[in-house]
Amino acid sequence: MSIRIAVLASGRGSNLQAILDAIAVGELHAELAGVFSDQPQCAALQRVPQSQRWAASPKKYSDKTAFETAMGDAIENARADWIVCAGYMRIIGPDFVERFNGRLLNIHPSLLPKYRGLHTHAAALAAGDTEHGASVHFVSNELDAGALIAQTIIDILPGDTPETLGARLLPCEHGLMIAVLQLAANNRLRLIGAIAHLDGHALLKPLRLDCASQ
Ligand code: GRF
Repeated sequence: MSIRIAVLASGRGSNLQAILDAIAVGELHAELAGVFSDQPQCAALQRVPQSQRWAASPKKYSDKTAFETAMGDAIENARADWIVCAGYMRIIGPDFVERFNGRLLNIHPSLLPKYRGLHTHAAALAAGDTEHGASVHFVSNELDAGALIAQTIIDILPGDTPETLGARLLPCEHGLMIAVLQLAANNRLRLIGAIAHLDGHALLKPLRLDCASQ
């Protein structure tokens, strides 16, 4: 039986598209449970049929917890096994994290623990780093700080701007996301305590995945 993946997205949804493409070509043995969004007008939603969309503006709920409870109920109704934050631009609250703990992943465009939050490409350039990358981790209650699973790394080139760096990283992010979901689909990934495990081995350092498109 293949796993069912729920994708949380707020924007363009290129990571979602990478997941859809990997499923379509049989590279990822999974089904899309649905796309869940806090931005009813976002482009990500347009990538899937209406029947696979759930979106609501958090402003319509009494508070963040009420919004996340509704979204969580929809995710459960869609029978999702794994939930992936792929460009979901809201900080997730503790009730939602607890509800889906161990099956909630995030992709973040930096080599965590460096550069949590926004503007990661600019931060890497401003720090004079020679390498940059993206990380997939389990979501915890601390922003961009949950158990690391895997990272993809690219060189920073002379003349790079936040835009060129981000554009070069994006296809590598997609590959990273798919690779981690393949591990999940093959039942190889677990969160035990605060540490990710692969085949029962603690990932004390994240897996490093080379990026073929670099
Ligand atoms: C990606 O860079 C992801 O790492 C970050 O937000 C961006 C989302 O892109 N969290 P997309 O919406 O998947 O195209």
